[in-house]
Amino acid sequence: MPNVSFGPLETERLLLNPLQPEHAAQMWEVLRDPALYTWIPREPPGNVAAVENRFKAVSVGRSADGREQWLNWTVWLRTTGAPVGLFEATIHEDGKAYVAYMIRQSFWRRRYALEGMKAVVSALFSNGVKEIEAEIDSRNVPSISLMSRLGFVFVERKSKVEFFKGAWSDEEVWRILPSRQL
Ligand SMILES: CC(C)(COP(=O)(O)OP(=O)(O)OC[C@H]1O[C@@H](n2cnc3c(N)ncnc32)[C@H](O)[C@@H]1OP(=O)(O)O)[C@@H](O)C(=O)NCCC(=O)NCCS
Repeated sequence: MPNVSFGPLETERLLLNPLQPEHAAQMWEVLRDPALYTWIPREPPGNVAAVENRFKAVSVGRSADGREQWLNWTVWLRTTGAPVGLFEATIHEDGKAYVAYMIRQSFWRRRYALEGMKAVVSALFSNGVKEIEAEIDSRNVPSISLMSRLGFVFVERKSKVEFFKGAWSDEEVWRILPSRQL
């Protein structure tokens, strides 16, 4: 399995910090917004303690069986220190990684996801990850468009993957290989 170094990443406007439970209160202000979960089969955390518990659980960095490495970054504006969002990467034994991302609604459409996820993709590939995938609800136009802008390519569409929030979801799989990296 690739051993990705789990340090902070910097971009022109953003600081990506390895997730720390101490940041739960600031991140709750971002993560509590129901708009972030429209196309995700989860509800927003109910309080700061719920965020803190989740942060504690994932900040161990590895699944209990040791077969997955978990990388999570909280995302901050470099100028003001304002919390911007959360990026996740799960790396499997075979060198394949899966990513997910959330940006605070008031910061949408400023290319923060594009800028930050470019840095994540680059860090994963430079640490031995062989391919990166994302599985996205087919109705999630912003996320699918982001994939395309990052150089990911469409792989397949899976029908009726999960029933949540009153409807069945179809899921699109998007993938990027090191050679496609922007
Ligand atoms: C998906 C998400 C992270 C995008 O964040 P963002 O910072 O607003 O995205 P960016 O500004 O970096 O946009 C990059 C590209 O994504 C696409 N995009 C982003 N939002 C879009 C929208 N509302 N409609 C269409 N395309 C969109 C565009 O191609 C854009 O490039 P452009 O600016 O050159 O047009 C954000 O909408 C979000 O947090 N959604 C809720 C959480 C979620 O669904 N996460 C994905 C789970 S798989």
